Amino acid sequence: TNPSLLILPGDGIGPEVMAEVRKIIDWFGARRGITFDVSEDLVGGCAYDKHGTPLHDDTMARAQEVDAVLLGAVGGPKYDSLDFSVKPERGLLRLRKEMDLFSNLRPAQCFDALADFSSLKKDVVAGLDIMIVRELTSGVYFGEPRGIFEEGNERVGINTQRYTESEIDRVARSAFDLAMKRGKKLCSMEKANVMESGILWREVVTEVGKDYPEVELSHMYADAGAMQLTRWPKQFDVIVTDNLFGDLLSDLAAMLTGSLGMLPSASLGAPMDNGRPKALYEPVHGSAPDIAGQGKANPCACILSFAMALRYSFDLGDEATRLEQAVNAVLGDGVRTADLLNEEGITPATTAEMGDAVLAALDAS
Ligand code: NAI
Ligand code: MG
Repeated sequence: TNPSLLILPGDGIGPEVMAEVRKIIDWFGARRGITFDVSEDLVGGCAYDKHGTPLHDDTMARAQEVDAVLLGAVGGPKYDSLDFSVKPERGLLRLRKEMDLFSNLRPAQCFDALADFSSLKKDVVAGLDIMIVRELTSGVYFGEPRGIFEEGNERVGINTQRYTESEIDRVARSAFDLAMKRGKKLCSMEKANVMESGILWREVVTEVGKDYPEVELSHMYADAGAMQLTRWPKQFDVIVTDNLFGDLLSDLAAMLTGSLGMLPSASLGAPMDNGRPKALYEPVHGSAPDIAGQGKANPCACILSFAMALRYSFDLGDEATRLEQAVNAVLGDGVRTADLLNEEGITPATTAEMGDAVLAALDAS
Protein backbone atom coordinates (compact mmCIF):
# COMPACT_ATOMS: atom_id res chain seq x y z
CA THR A 1 0.00 0.00 0.00
CA ASN A 2 1.06 3.58 -0.64
CA PRO A 3 2.21 5.77 2.25
CA SER A 4 -0.69 7.90 3.49
CA LEU A 5 -0.70 11.63 4.02
CA LEU A 6 -3.42 13.84 5.51
CA ILE A 7 -3.26 17.42 4.28
CA LEU A 8 -4.80 20.18 6.41
CA PRO A 9 -4.25 23.52 4.61
CA GLY A 10 -6.05 25.59 7.26
CA ASP A 11 -6.53 29.36 7.04
CA GLY A 12 -4.97 32.49 5.52
CA ILE A 13 -1.89 31.67 3.45
CA GLY A 14 -2.13 28.00 4.51
CA PRO A 15 -4.13 26.94 1.42
CA GLU A 16 -1.94 29.13 -0.84
CA VAL A 17 1.35 27.53 0.21
CA MET A 18 -0.21 24.05 0.35
CA ALA A 19 -1.31 24.35 -3.29
CA GLU A 20 2.40 24.48 -4.22
CA VAL A 21 3.12 21.38 -2.13
CA ARG A 22 0.30 19.56 -3.94
CA LYS A 23 2.09 20.25 -7.23
CA ILE A 24 5.27 18.74 -5.79
CA ILE A 25 3.45 15.68 -4.47
CA ASP A 26 2.00 15.19 -7.98
CA TRP A 27 5.49 15.57 -9.44
CA PHE A 28 6.83 12.77 -7.22
CA GLY A 29 4.00 10.52 -8.43
CA ALA A 30 4.41 11.33 -12.12
CA ARG A 31 8.19 11.55 -12.36
CA ARG A 32 9.55 9.39 -9.55
CA GLY A 33 6.82 6.78 -9.22
CA ILE A 34 6.37 7.68 -5.54
CA THR A 35 2.64 7.83 -4.96
CA PHE A 36 1.03 8.97 -1.74
CA ASP A 37 -2.49 8.18 -0.62
CA VAL A 38 -3.46 11.82 -0.02
CA SER A 39 -6.60 12.99 1.76
CA GLU A 40 -7.46 16.60 2.56
CA ASP A 41 -9.55 18.10 5.34
CA LEU A 42 -10.28 21.24 7.35
CA VAL A 43 -8.56 22.59 10.46
CA GLY A 44 -8.77 25.91 12.29
CA GLY A 45 -11.11 28.75 11.39
CA CYS A 46 -12.38 27.11 8.19
CA ALA A 47 -13.31 23.99 10.17
CA TYR A 48 -15.12 26.16 12.71
CA ASP A 49 -17.05 27.88 9.89
CA LYS A 50 -18.26 24.52 8.56
CA HIS A 51 -18.59 22.37 11.70
CA GLY A 52 -18.60 24.77 14.66
CA THR A 53 -15.36 23.21 15.91
CA PRO A 54 -11.75 23.87 14.82
CA LEU A 55 -11.13 20.13 14.44
CA HIS A 56 -13.89 17.64 13.62
CA ASP A 57 -13.73 14.24 15.36
CA ASP A 58 -13.55 12.51 11.95
CA THR A 59 -10.50 14.60 11.05
CA MET A 60 -8.89 13.74 14.38
CA ALA A 61 -9.52 10.03 13.78
CA ARG A 62 -8.03 10.24 10.27
CA ALA A 63 -4.94 12.01 11.67
CA GLN A 64 -4.39 9.06 14.03
CA GLU A 65 -4.50 6.58 11.12
CA VAL A 66 -2.26 8.16 8.51
CA ASP A 67 1.53 7.91 8.23
CA ALA A 68 1.91 11.68 8.39
CA VAL A 69 -0.11 14.89 8.68
CA LEU A 70 0.94 18.03 6.79
CA LEU A 71 -0.60 21.27 8.09
CA GLY A 72 -0.53 24.79 6.62
CA ALA A 73 -1.48 27.37 9.24
CA VAL A 74 -4.50 28.31 11.33
CA GLY A 75 -6.07 31.51 12.60
CA GLY A 76 -6.89 35.01 11.48
CA PRO A 77 -8.55 38.23 12.65
CA LYS A 78 -11.98 36.90 11.71
CA TYR A 79 -11.70 34.39 14.56
CA ASP A 80 -9.98 36.54 17.21
CA SER A 81 -13.20 37.17 19.15
CA LEU A 82 -14.25 33.50 19.29
CA ASP A 83 -14.55 31.72 22.61
CA PHE A 84 -11.23 30.15 23.70
CA SER A 85 -12.64 26.62 23.42
CA VAL A 86 -13.26 26.94 19.66
CA LYS A 87 -10.38 29.20 18.65
CA PRO A 88 -8.53 27.98 15.50
CA GLU A 89 -5.31 27.17 17.41
CA ARG A 90 -7.31 24.76 19.59
CA GLY A 91 -7.54 22.53 16.52
CA LEU A 92 -3.77 22.40 16.26
CA LEU A 93 -3.35 21.91 20.02
CA ARG A 94 -5.82 19.01 19.94
CA LEU A 95 -3.82 17.31 17.16
CA ARG A 96 -0.57 17.69 19.10
CA LYS A 97 -2.12 16.50 22.36
CA GLU A 98 -4.12 13.50 21.11
CA MET A 99 -1.30 12.32 18.83
CA ASP A 100 1.02 12.80 21.86
CA LEU A 101 3.69 14.58 19.82
CA PHE A 102 6.41 14.99 22.41
CA SER A 103 9.38 15.64 20.14
CA ASN A 104 9.49 18.89 18.18
CA LEU A 105 12.11 19.10 15.43
CA ARG A 106 13.20 22.54 14.32
CA PRO A 107 15.99 22.62 11.74
CA ALA A 108 18.18 25.66 11.19
CA GLN A 109 19.56 25.21 7.73
CA CYS A 110 21.27 27.91 5.74
CA PHE A 111 20.76 27.74 2.01
CA ASP A 112 23.90 28.95 0.22
CA ALA A 113 22.00 31.60 -1.67
CA LEU A 114 20.64 33.10 1.54
CA ALA A 115 23.91 33.29 3.49
CA ASP A 116 24.05 37.03 2.77
CA PHE A 117 20.53 37.42 4.10
CA SER A 118 21.35 36.36 7.67
CA SER A 119 22.05 38.98 10.31
CA LEU A 120 25.24 37.07 11.20
CA LYS A 121 28.53 37.02 9.29
CA LYS A 122 28.42 34.92 6.14
CA ASP A 123 31.16 32.46 7.21
CA VAL A 124 29.33 31.82 10.50
CA VAL A 125 26.14 30.66 8.75
CA ALA A 126 27.13 29.46 5.25
CA GLY A 127 26.45 25.73 5.02
CA LEU A 128 24.87 25.62 8.48
CA ASP A 129 22.64 22.57 9.02
CA ILE A 130 21.61 21.87 12.60
CA MET A 131 18.51 20.44 14.26
CA ILE A 132 16.98 21.40 17.58
CA VAL A 133 14.84 18.78 19.28
CA ARG A 134 12.51 20.38 21.82
CA GLU A 135 10.46 18.38 24.32
CA LEU A 136 6.91 19.53 23.62
CA THR A 137 4.40 17.99 26.03
CA SER A 138 5.82 18.45 29.53
CA GLY A 139 8.04 20.74 31.60
CA VAL A 140 7.27 24.14 33.04
CA TYR A 141 4.38 24.90 30.66
CA PHE A 142 2.41 21.96 32.04
CA GLY A 143 3.76 21.13 35.55
CA GLU A 144 1.52 21.31 38.62
CA PRO A 145 1.02 23.25 40.83
CA ARG A 146 0.44 26.23 38.60
CA GLY A 147 -1.63 29.36 38.99
CA ILE A 148 -1.77 32.78 40.62
CA PHE A 149 -2.34 32.45 44.36
CA GLU A 150 -2.76 34.76 47.36
CA GLU A 151 0.22 34.59 49.68
CA GLY A 152 0.14 36.90 52.70
CA ASN A 153 -0.83 40.32 51.38
CA GLU A 154 0.26 39.80 47.78
CA ARG A 155 -0.21 37.41 44.87
CA VAL A 156 2.28 34.85 43.64
CA GLY A 157 2.47 33.39 40.13
CA ILE A 158 3.59 29.77 40.09
CA ASN A 159 4.72 27.35 37.39
CA THR A 160 6.46 24.10 38.09
CA GLN A 161 9.26 22.57 36.04
CA ARG A 162 8.62 18.85 36.22
CA TYR A 163 10.06 15.99 34.17
CA THR A 164 9.68 12.26 34.72
CA GLU A 165 12.41 9.84 33.69
CA SER A 166 10.19 8.33 30.99
CA GLU A 167 9.44 11.75 29.51
CA ILE A 168 13.16 12.51 29.25
CA ASP A 169 13.95 9.01 28.01
CA ARG A 170 11.53 9.13 25.06
CA VAL A 171 12.56 12.56 23.77
CA ALA A 172 16.23 11.62 24.21
CA ARG A 173 15.67 8.47 22.13
CA SER A 174 14.02 10.45 19.36
CA ALA A 175 17.01 12.83 19.34
CA PHE A 176 19.54 9.97 19.26
CA ASP A 177 17.57 8.29 16.44
CA LEU A 178 17.75 11.55 14.54
CA ALA A 179 21.47 11.94 15.21
CA MET A 180 21.96 8.46 13.73
CA LYS A 181 20.30 9.68 10.47
CA ARG A 182 22.48 12.79 10.46
CA GLY A 183 26.01 13.59 11.69
CA LYS A 184 25.97 11.30 14.79
CA LYS A 185 26.61 14.18 17.17
CA LEU A 186 24.20 15.14 19.94
CA CYS A 187 24.44 18.00 22.45
CA SER A 188 22.01 17.97 25.38
CA MET A 189 21.22 21.32 26.99
CA GLU A 190 19.79 21.97 30.47
CA LYS A 191 20.82 23.83 33.60
CA ALA A 192 22.00 21.00 35.83
CA ASN A 193 24.00 23.60 37.77
CA VAL A 194 20.86 25.17 39.26
CA MET A 195 17.87 22.89 38.48
CA GLU A 196 16.94 19.48 39.87
CA SER A 197 15.09 18.63 36.65
CA GLY A 198 18.33 19.48 34.84
CA ILE A 199 20.32 17.02 36.95
CA LEU A 200 17.81 14.25 36.18
CA TRP A 201 17.76 15.29 32.50
CA ARG A 202 21.55 14.92 32.23
CA GLU A 203 21.51 11.54 34.01
CA VAL A 204 18.76 10.05 31.84
CA VAL A 205 20.20 11.35 28.54
CA THR A 206 23.60 9.90 29.50
CA GLU A 207 21.95 6.54 30.26
CA VAL A 208 20.02 6.48 26.95
CA GLY A 209 23.29 7.34 25.19
CA LYS A 210 24.68 3.92 26.15
CA ASP A 211 22.23 2.44 23.63
CA TYR A 212 23.74 4.68 20.92
CA PRO A 213 27.51 4.11 21.16
CA GLU A 214 28.04 5.57 17.67
CA VAL A 215 26.64 8.95 18.67
CA GLU A 216 29.06 11.41 20.22
CA LEU A 217 27.15 12.91 23.18
CA SER A 218 28.01 16.19 24.91
CA HIS A 219 26.26 18.33 27.54
CA MET A 220 26.05 22.09 27.80
CA TYR A 221 24.28 24.53 30.11
CA ALA A 222 21.47 26.11 28.12
CA ASP A 223 22.66 29.69 28.67
CA ALA A 224 26.12 28.81 27.40
CA GLY A 225 24.38 27.00 24.54
CA ALA A 226 22.62 30.22 23.53
CA MET A 227 26.01 31.95 23.35
CA GLN A 228 27.61 29.13 21.39
CA LEU A 229 24.69 29.06 18.93
CA THR A 230 25.35 32.64 17.90
CA ARG A 231 29.16 32.45 18.18
CA TRP A 232 29.79 29.32 16.09
CA PRO A 233 26.59 27.36 15.36
CA LYS A 234 28.36 24.92 13.02
CA GLN A 235 29.89 23.15 16.05
CA PHE A 236 26.45 21.49 16.55
CA ASP A 237 24.57 18.76 14.70
CA VAL A 238 21.56 17.77 16.82
CA ILE A 239 20.64 19.58 20.06
CA VAL A 240 18.10 18.12 22.51
CA THR A 241 16.54 20.24 25.22
CA ASP A 242 13.41 20.75 27.32
CA ASN A 243 10.23 22.60 26.45
CA LEU A 244 11.14 26.06 27.82
CA PHE A 245 14.79 26.18 26.72
CA GLY A 246 13.78 24.63 23.41
CA ASP A 247 11.19 27.34 22.83
CA LEU A 248 13.90 30.01 23.15
CA LEU A 249 16.81 28.18 21.52
CA SER A 250 14.81 27.02 18.49
CA ASP A 251 13.59 30.55 17.77
CA LEU A 252 17.14 31.83 18.16
CA ALA A 253 18.61 29.12 15.92
CA ALA A 254 15.90 29.59 13.30
CA MET A 255 16.70 33.25 12.86
CA LEU A 256 20.37 32.49 12.22
CA THR A 257 19.28 31.65 8.72
CA GLY A 258 16.85 34.34 7.62
CA SER A 259 13.13 34.41 6.96
CA LEU A 260 10.09 32.92 8.64
CA GLY A 261 8.99 31.94 5.14
CA MET A 262 11.82 29.37 4.96
CA LEU A 263 11.34 27.50 8.25
CA PRO A 264 9.86 23.99 8.40
CA SER A 265 9.14 21.90 11.50
CA ALA A 266 8.08 18.42 12.54
CA SER A 267 6.47 17.07 15.68
CA LEU A 268 6.93 13.37 16.34
CA GLY A 269 5.32 10.94 18.76
CA ALA A 270 5.68 7.29 19.65
CA PRO A 271 6.24 4.68 16.92
CA MET A 272 3.07 3.23 15.37
CA ASP A 273 2.55 -0.46 14.49
CA ASN A 274 4.41 0.04 11.20
CA GLY A 275 7.43 1.41 13.10
CA ARG A 276 6.96 4.98 11.84
CA PRO A 277 6.52 7.67 14.48
CA LYS A 278 3.23 9.56 14.69
CA ALA A 279 4.06 12.75 12.84
CA LEU A 280 2.79 16.25 12.10
CA TYR A 281 4.73 18.49 9.71
CA GLU A 282 4.07 22.23 9.46
CA PRO A 283 5.78 25.49 8.60
CA VAL A 284 6.81 27.57 11.63
CA HIS A 285 4.94 30.63 10.35
CA GLY A 286 1.26 31.43 10.95
CA SER A 287 -1.58 32.33 8.60
CA ALA A 288 -0.10 35.77 7.74
CA PRO A 289 -3.40 37.64 7.36
CA ASP A 290 -1.50 40.76 6.24
CA ILE A 291 -0.54 39.09 2.94
CA ALA A 292 -3.22 36.37 2.61
CA GLY A 293 -5.05 36.18 -0.72
CA GLN A 294 -2.43 38.25 -2.54
CA GLY A 295 -0.15 35.54 -3.93
CA LYS A 296 2.79 36.93 -1.94
CA ALA A 297 3.40 34.08 0.52
CA ASN A 298 6.65 32.14 0.37
CA PRO A 299 5.73 28.45 -0.08
CA CYS A 300 9.24 27.20 0.84
CA ALA A 301 8.57 26.63 4.56
CA CYS A 302 5.67 24.34 3.67
CA ILE A 303 7.61 22.66 0.83
CA LEU A 304 10.54 22.04 3.20
CA SER A 305 8.11 20.64 5.80
CA PHE A 306 7.08 18.10 3.17
CA ALA A 307 10.79 17.36 2.59
CA MET A 308 11.06 16.59 6.32
CA ALA A 309 8.11 14.20 5.96
CA LEU A 310 9.92 12.45 3.10
CA ARG A 311 12.99 12.01 5.30
CA TYR A 312 11.54 11.26 8.73
CA SER A 313 8.22 9.50 7.99
CA PHE A 314 8.80 7.86 4.61
CA ASP A 315 12.50 6.96 4.70
CA LEU A 316 13.03 8.86 1.47
CA GLY A 317 16.06 10.83 2.59
CA ASP A 318 17.56 11.04 -0.92
CA GLU A 319 14.31 12.44 -2.31
CA ALA A 320 14.18 14.93 0.57
CA THR A 321 17.69 16.09 -0.28
CA ARG A 322 16.71 16.35 -3.96
CA LEU A 323 13.80 18.62 -3.01
CA GLU A 324 15.92 20.76 -0.66
CA GLN A 325 18.53 21.14 -3.39
CA ALA A 326 15.82 22.22 -5.83
CA VAL A 327 14.78 24.96 -3.39
CA ASN A 328 18.43 25.98 -3.01
CA ALA A 329 18.88 26.10 -6.79
CA VAL A 330 15.83 28.32 -7.22
CA LEU A 331 17.09 30.76 -4.59
CA GLY A 332 20.50 30.71 -6.26
CA ASP A 333 18.84 31.68 -9.56
CA GLY A 334 17.48 34.76 -7.80
CA VAL A 335 13.83 33.68 -7.79
CA ARG A 336 12.57 35.14 -4.51
CA THR A 337 9.27 35.94 -2.88
CA ALA A 338 9.05 39.41 -1.31
CA ASP A 339 10.09 38.23 2.18
CA LEU A 340 13.50 37.18 0.76
CA LEU A 341 14.30 40.48 -0.92
CA ASN A 342 15.86 43.40 0.85
CA GLU A 343 16.70 45.48 -2.21
CA GLU A 344 14.23 47.80 -3.86
CA GLY A 345 13.54 47.54 -7.57
CA ILE A 346 13.51 43.76 -7.90
CA THR A 347 10.15 42.24 -8.82
CA PRO A 348 9.28 39.54 -6.30
CA ALA A 349 8.08 36.12 -7.42
CA THR A 350 4.51 35.14 -6.58
CA THR A 351 3.69 32.06 -4.51
CA ALA A 352 2.85 30.09 -7.67
CA GLU A 353 5.96 31.30 -9.54
CA MET A 354 8.12 30.13 -6.65
CA GLY A 355 6.42 26.71 -6.62
CA ASP A 356 6.73 26.39 -10.40
CA ALA A 357 10.42 27.29 -10.21
CA VAL A 358 10.97 24.51 -7.64
CA LEU A 359 9.20 22.08 -9.99
CA ALA A 360 11.41 23.16 -12.88
CA ALA A 361 14.51 22.67 -10.70
CA LEU A 362 13.26 19.19 -9.74
CA ASP A 363 12.80 18.40 -13.42
CA ALA A 364 16.37 19.49 -14.08
CA SER A 365 17.79 17.46 -11.16
P1 NAI B 1 2.64 34.98 11.07
O1 NAI B 1 3.72 33.96 11.07
O2 NAI B 1 1.37 34.61 10.44
O3 NAI B 1 3.19 36.33 10.35
C1 NAI B 1 4.27 37.09 10.87
C2 NAI B 1 4.86 37.96 9.73
O4 NAI B 1 5.62 37.14 8.84
C3 NAI B 1 3.79 38.63 8.88
O5 NAI B 1 4.25 39.89 8.49
C4 NAI B 1 3.66 37.70 7.68
O6 NAI B 1 3.24 38.37 6.51
C5 NAI B 1 5.08 37.16 7.53
N1 NAI B 1 5.06 35.80 7.00
C6 NAI B 1 4.69 34.67 7.66
N2 NAI B 1 4.77 33.60 6.87
C7 NAI B 1 5.17 34.05 5.66
C8 NAI B 1 5.43 33.41 4.41
N3 NAI B 1 5.26 32.08 4.23
N4 NAI B 1 5.83 34.17 3.37
C9 NAI B 1 6.01 35.49 3.52
N5 NAI B 1 5.79 36.15 4.68
C10 NAI B 1 5.38 35.44 5.73
O7 NAI B 1 2.40 35.40 12.61
P2 NAI B 1 1.33 36.42 13.24
O8 NAI B 1 1.13 37.58 12.32
O9 NAI B 1 1.76 36.65 14.61
O10 NAI B 1 -0.04 35.60 13.33
C11 NAI B 1 -1.05 35.63 12.32
C12 NAI B 1 -2.09 34.56 12.62
O11 NAI B 1 -1.49 33.28 12.53
C13 NAI B 1 -2.69 34.65 14.02
O12 NAI B 1 -4.05 34.34 13.93
C14 NAI B 1 -1.94 33.59 14.79
O13 NAI B 1 -2.70 33.11 15.87
C15 NAI B 1 -1.73 32.56 13.74
N6 NAI B 1 -0.55 31.68 13.96
C16 NAI B 1 -0.71 30.37 13.63
C17 NAI B 1 0.35 29.50 13.74
C18 NAI B 1 0.14 28.10 13.28
O14 NAI B 1 -0.80 27.80 12.58
N7 NAI B 1 1.03 27.19 13.62
C19 NAI B 1 1.65 29.93 14.27
C20 NAI B 1 1.73 31.35 14.53
C21 NAI B 1 0.64 32.18 14.40
MG1 MG C 1 8.36 30.27 20.40
